[in-house]
Amino acid sequence: MKCIIPAAGKGTRLQPHTLNKPKALLRLGNRPIIAHIVDRVLEANISDIIIIVGYEKEKLKDYLLKQYSEKCNFTFIEQKERRGLGHAVYLATEHLDGEPALITLGDSLYENSYLSMLQEYQKRSDWDGVLTVRDVVNPQSYGIVIPKPNSSVIKEMVEKPQTPLSNKAITGVYMIRNSKILQKILQEIVETNSIGAGGEIQLTDALQRMIKRGFTLGIIDSGVWFDCGNKDSLLKGNQFVLSSLQDSVIRSEINNSVIIPPVAIEKGCFISDSIIGPNVSIAQDTTITRGIISSSIIGSSSVIANVNIENSIIGNGVSVKGEIRELNIGDNRKIQVSNGIDTDDE
Ligand code: G1P
Repeated sequence: MKCIIPAAGKGTRLQPHTLNKPKALLRLGNRPIIAHIVDRVLEANISDIIIIVGYEKEKLKDYLLKQYSEKCNFTFIEQKERRGLGHAVYLATEHLDGEPALITLGDSLYENSYLSMLQEYQKRSDWDGVLTVRDVVNPQSYGIVIPKPNSSVIKEMVEKPQTPLSNKAITGVYMIRNSKILQKILQEIVETNSIGAGGEIQLTDALQRMIKRGFTLGIIDSGVWFDCGNKDSLLKGNQFVLSSLQDSVIRSEINNSVIIPPVAIEKGCFISDSIIGPNVSIAQDTTITRGIISSSIIGSSSVIANVNIENSIIGNGVSVKGEIRELNIGDNRKIQVSNGIDTDDE
């Protein structure tokens, strides 16, 4: 089995943090999102991984090759135009030889492991593929599946329906037994430019065509999932990763401070006179003095003093000083607050 990870998108909803790096490289806990995904794929004994790259592709390639080249066999495919998830997967299926494929989105983490999902799928030899789902309150924002009555087999699936007939959202893990069939259908859709929801080539539409042609697709539960597409979901993903670490990661000097687990504090940081945690992730070489920080992601080489913040994301090389409660700052900014006046003198 090979794995396909689409990770070409621009991550616009996560700006300013994605202004100079792909979404997949944003940190959750102690590592970038993509590292958590690749680790879980390896745990499922899959080491052939096709990554669809696009925006800031070199940074993503460099990171993966540096960290994983001994463990994984990567194929990087560039999606030059953003034509949608179906198009991204189509480009990848051209590099498969009909073998089974696990497709998992480059910005999502799941409570259930791929290994457990695959084990569940293997029990269903009568299924041609399986998708993970979860009940949601806003099905209009997702691809949804309508199962057959009292069954885990899908009757119909629709991408971002205006009037949803089900609240079962597709959470973004797909296992396909014969990738040749999916490839052929995606090829038809791409060649006829049959665009779907949002004006894009949709993977959901291709899978719906599979169902129409008599193939059986089933559903399994992904557990809670974190699609790290905006600030709040990124912070929730950070919390999920930190709470799943066995112990807090503290690789730096901590002086006269209280650490409330779980936290991840990388090497080269200097923390003094502060209260850090819970759910705080701090990248390397950052200095924090007199800070009260909870539920936040702090980048590398930043200097933070006299702040009391929660639910914040601060980039790399940022300087923040002052009475501040919530922040969302990209890389290389300087913010100082005094007497209620904000200055941002980059
Ligand atoms: C994609 C899929 C959609 C799925 C969602 C899960 O949508 O097309 O079916 O429900 O991922 O996050 P996107 O998030 O790219 O709009």
